[in-house]
Amino acid sequence: MRVRPYDPEKDLDALKRMWQEVGWIERGNDDQAEGLEVFAAEYPGLVAEIEGAAECYVATGQGSIRYLEADVPLSAVTAVTTSYVARRQGLAQRLTAASVARDAAAGSMVSALGVFDQGFYNKLGYGTGVYEHLYSLDPSHLRVPKTARPPRRLSKDDWEAMHRARLGRLRGHGSCVIDAAVATRAEMLWATNGFGLGYHDGSGGALSHYVWFSTKGGENGPLNAWWMAYETTDQFLELMAAIASLGDQIHLVKMREPAGIQVQDLLDQPFRRNRISEKSDYESRTRSAAYMQMRICDLAGCLQATHLDGRPVRFNLELSDPIDGLLDPGTDWRGVAGSYVVELGPESSAVPGAEVGLPTLHAGVGAFTRLWLGVRPATGLAVTDQLSGPAELLATLDRTLRLPPPRTDWDF
Ligand SMILES: CC(C)(COP(=O)(O)OP(=O)(O)OC[C@H]1O[C@@H](n2cnc3c(N)ncnc32)[C@H](O)[C@@H]1OP(=O)(O)O)[C@@H](O)C(=O)NCCC(=O)NCCS
Repeated sequence: MRVRPYDPEKDLDALKRMWQEVGWIERGNDDQAEGLEVFAAEYPGLVAEIEGAAECYVATGQGSIRYLEADVPLSAVTAVTTSYVARRQGLAQRLTAASVARDAAAGSMVSALGVFDQGFYNKLGYGTGVYEHLYSLDPSHLRVPKTARPPRRLSKDDWEAMHRARLGRLRGHGSCVIDAAVATRAEMLWATNGFGLGYHDGSGGALSHYVWFSTKGGENGPLNAWWMAYETTDQFLELMAAIASLGDQIHLVKMREPAGIQVQDLLDQPFRRNRISEKSDYESRTRSAAYMQMRICDLAGCLQATHLDGRPVRFNLELSDPIDGLLDPGTDWRGVAGSYVVELGPESSAVPGAEVGLPTLHAGVGAFTRLWLGVRPATGLAVTDQLSGPAELLATLDRTLRLPPPRTDWDF
């Protein structure tokens, strides 16, 4: 087995075969094949080669994650796949660890990814993010306090404008961006019957707000809203009004609840509608799942970007990080395990060492990442994750780290 960077000349056919095998693209679907080609050409990728063919592939993209008002450099893990002939040999874990180490050495302070299930990436130090609310709603039951002008159509050819609008969208705590436009272009090519509806209110008629859909359903939907981008909450309401205007025909629209918004407020009789549509093809309901995970890759860097209101708290941190065991001996970056003196407050810091007289927090890097981002309070993480410390310290951390839910607002 050999690990090396992805080479489009040599590896594209093997990668197509691998992605068909794992069901990420369909045989004979040209748009999806093109999506994979541009995806693999643009993102730095690593492959593990077995008998001359790439059988495992991991890709990452550079971007940032917002921590309150600060932007922290992010490595987004955008693909992890192992072909059927190379499973259970540790390839995916090793290649992912190598990609995280490469990006951390190049300056990424946080790594994030979307999981296929819980547990696998925990072994590389990732911690689970917040629950996302996933709405399936009947657009004829939307009550939006605004009307929509007729939107313009958007197609997969508008990927550049759509990516730019995504980068410039209204963002909150925890929101992520991936810089490279391929992040938007490839997703659009993978969407079945993809189309967008949007408005060009930006300077010089630039695209300002839009929603991108796919649909596998018939004339009555469902429509799947993959993402929305808007610069103002008024623009959000206009998009919701545009969705409501489809309600004469479309019976169901699926969407992820945007940060800071309670979609249920916009729905007329949501429980009645849920009961009546239960178990139908157009079931109106909400479900929740926490499918994004993150890990800190540069503790001092993350804390330098952390500015919290209130009185500072100081403590010793004993941090463990399992990624070391998955890295090749020659890798310089080996995770963030160690002893630190941490201060959290208006100015925050993490300095290697320990200070006599300070309380000590013991944490795995995944649990500490969740604490830092505000996924759950310290007292809750102490119950279910790798985090422990004196009760008084945990209670103080609960007060200090009162943060809005960190929503990535970008699935990858
Ligand atoms: C997920 C995937 C990449 C793993 O590939 P792989 O190279 O076989 O993985 P590894 O050999 O590195 O790791 C397998 C180990 O993880 C374990 N594992 C798998 N899922 C797990 C979970 N949810 N929790 C804990 N451990 C898990 C396996 O049991 C196995 O354990 P073992 O080493 O003790 O036998 C592969 O199954 C795949 O390509 N799936 C389809 C595409 C996909 O879903 N990719 C992930 C996108 S987030």
